[in-house]
Amino acid sequence: MLRRLGKKDPQKYLPYFPERVTTFVDMFMGTGSITFAMLNRAKYIYANDNDKNVFNLFMVVKNKREELIESLKLLPYHEGVFNYWKEHEEIDDVWAATRFLMLSNFGYLGKPDSLRFVPSASKTNLLSEIVSFNFIENIQFMDSDFRDVISKISWREGKKATNDSFIYADPPYLGTINNYQSSFTEDDTRDLFSILTGSGLRFAVSEFANPIVIALAEEHGLYVHDLGERRNLKNRREEILITNYQPQRRQGSLFPSEGAAASTANKQMNTDKKERGEKLAVSRQQTMRYKKSLTKL
Ligand SMILES: C[S@@+](CC[C@H](N)C(=O)[O-])C[C@H]1O[C@@H](n2cnc3c(N)ncnc32)[C@H](O)[C@@H]1O
Repeated sequence: MLRRLGKKDPQKYLPYFPERVTTFVDMFMGTGSITFAMLNRAKYIYANDNDKNVFNLFMVVKNKREELIESLKLLPYHEGVFNYWKEHEEIDDVWAATRFLMLSNFGYLGKPDSLRFVPSASKTNLLSEIVSFNFIENIQFMDSDFRDVISKISWREGKKATNDSFIYADPPYLGTINNYQSSFTEDDTRDLFSILTGSGLRFAVSEFANPIVIALAEEHGLYVHDLGERRNLKNRREEILITNYQPQRRQGSLFPSEGAAASTANKQMNTDKKERGEKLAVSRQQTMRYKKSLTKL
């Protein structure tokens, strides 16, 4: 429903997540792609994002879906409206959600710069997606800074046990330019790791193999999993998943083991992994240099 930078494909991440959890927290929900994929694995779900537009959109979809559908039906798919909304916010929650959907869905490259006209970005597609969004009733949406999320959740007795709950944190990548409302700094990243390790809960963090991030993972004694390259028009970067538990990865599309196609895929994967391993090693060397530079200060 929401087109937004950094949207994650659940198939890539869920094999690393616990099979069953009582409480799942998506600390930086964005489009909610991971939140929704966890619906059948978790009993209680909390989805947080400090972007007021993201929060408002999901609250409207949850509580005023019919009104949103009506407002989208009335919406002219027109450059004039798009340009007006680039400059003006809406106060009414349903219109604010309509505005946000138009800017994020119909903006060229997902940015609210100019309207694009392509068949996949049609109002009909969007409407049919929203109509089917009746599965979010049990999700608790939050619009807090990530630092406040854990303390704001009313953990049911015993549910906070390490083996019972799970937090996924997908912050804006450190050191990258994005078009979110706020940027993410090195201090934010430090706070995130301290809060997560201090919580005593199982967690996974998505990041790029950035020397500062790897150093923090090492400092906190965490597992670093290489997820391969993530590309956009300008960059190719090594993506990692950091966990405080050893994942029980299920055999599946990620790790094919049978048949000729699988064996070719395995060979390719091993070559890719070797190359990626070398790149991660380079990152570790950078980390060592970074640590040394810190001790000199
Ligand atoms: C990489 S995106 C998350 C993408 C999401 N996993 C998905 O699949 O769509 C990061 C999100 O964090 C939110 N964010 C940025 N700073 C935050 C903060 N301090 N506290 C909570 N959320 C924040 C942004 O608004 C953005 O939606």
